[in-house]
Amino acid sequence: MTGLLTDPYGRRVDYLRLSVTDRCDLRCFYCLPTDYRGADEPEEWLSFAELERLVGAFIALGVRRVRLTGGEPLTRKGLPDLAGALARIPGLLDLSLSTNAVGLVRHAHALRSAGIRRINVSLDSLRAERFKRITHGNLDKVLAGLMAAKTADFAPVKINMVVMKGINDDEVEDLVAFCIEHDFTLRLIETMPVGDTGRNATSHYIDLGEIRARLEAQFDLLPGVMPGGGPAHYVQVAGTNLRIGFITPISQHFCATCNRVRLTADGTLYLCLGQDHRFEFRPLLRSGISDQDLQDAVQHAITLKPERHEFIEQPGQLVRFMAQTGG
Ligand SMILES: C[S@@+](CC[C@H](N)C(=O)[O-])C[C@H]1O[C@@H](n2cnc3c(N)ncnc32)[C@H](O)[C@@H]1O
Ligand code: SF4
Repeated sequence: MTGLLTDPYGRRVDYLRLSVTDRCDLRCFYCLPTDYRGADEPEEWLSFAELERLVGAFIALGVRRVRLTGGEPLTRKGLPDLAGALARIPGLLDLSLSTNAVGLVRHAHALRSAGIRRINVSLDSLRAERFKRITHGNLDKVLAGLMAAKTADFAPVKINMVVMKGINDDEVEDLVAFCIEHDFTLRLIETMPVGDTGRNATSHYIDLGEIRARLEAQFDLLPGVMPGGGPAHYVQVAGTNLRIGFITPISQHFCATCNRVRLTADGTLYLCLGQDHRFEFRPLLRSGISDQDLQDAVQHAITLKPERHEFIEQPGQLVRFMAQTGG
């Protein structure tokens, strides 16, 4: 059975982002408040067996790509075991990971062996002091994690940089040089008003059109494509292998082609990053639902997907943090 997940707006859903924890060992100021401890008790989280079963139902209905995210997915104990179990589900074509890289020195090889091929790493600054101000973390650890990812042969390695005016917008060119040097892909992201933290950070919002114009004045940017590139508009820097993706949910939203839904650690499916439409799977999983009824529930949940986010019209509406939904 394939292609059974089509929403009321005719969009085929074939991509699931799975937030395996809402906790994180960093505190990026635009994402999580410093005193955040995790809204959910771990007992409420779905077990690996429950996650495997639920993700299996999505795959049976046509999902082909799964990304592990969070919070910080590497803080969930045994993540390589979950990755291995998901990678073995017939029908899944692509398993990837979004991480802050803090734990990659320890886990990169196990995750690669488990079947994760592609990896996205958050990196907003290459200056240790500034990195600490933004994330409360240690830049050296993250850089060591990135090099471990390179050694473990993840391909591509994509760097996610949230570009913020007066915070790190003067560093885009440095990130470009860094990505050329290491053969990484660069993805520039606009700040989104998700949770109080995200909303406060939008005072630093910058339209990536401005950054693109700045880069065009310095580099020859050719139209680029990126397999599995998602919502980013890619360009290629002439004379290099570097691709730069612009993720512009605010200045140029891409809802019309949205193909994804987000599942949280407690079994809640969010149908849109910028809306509250959701469906709870945990009660069903824990009341002995049959495989067929579980697939029916997944199909029903997809009918709840809203047409588009309303970040601009209703910037105050999302109280959950990005780390809860899974970025
Ligand atoms: C929530 S994190 C989860 C995975 C992992 N911890 C990481 O940082 O890559 C996923 C992505 O969301 C981005 N993000 C978090 N809050 C954001 C916000 N308010 N606006 C734009 N991007 C945000 C992060 O920069 C990161 O690239
Ligand atoms: S963006 Fe990622 S690393 Fe930063 S606080 Fe959020 S979940 Fe943690």
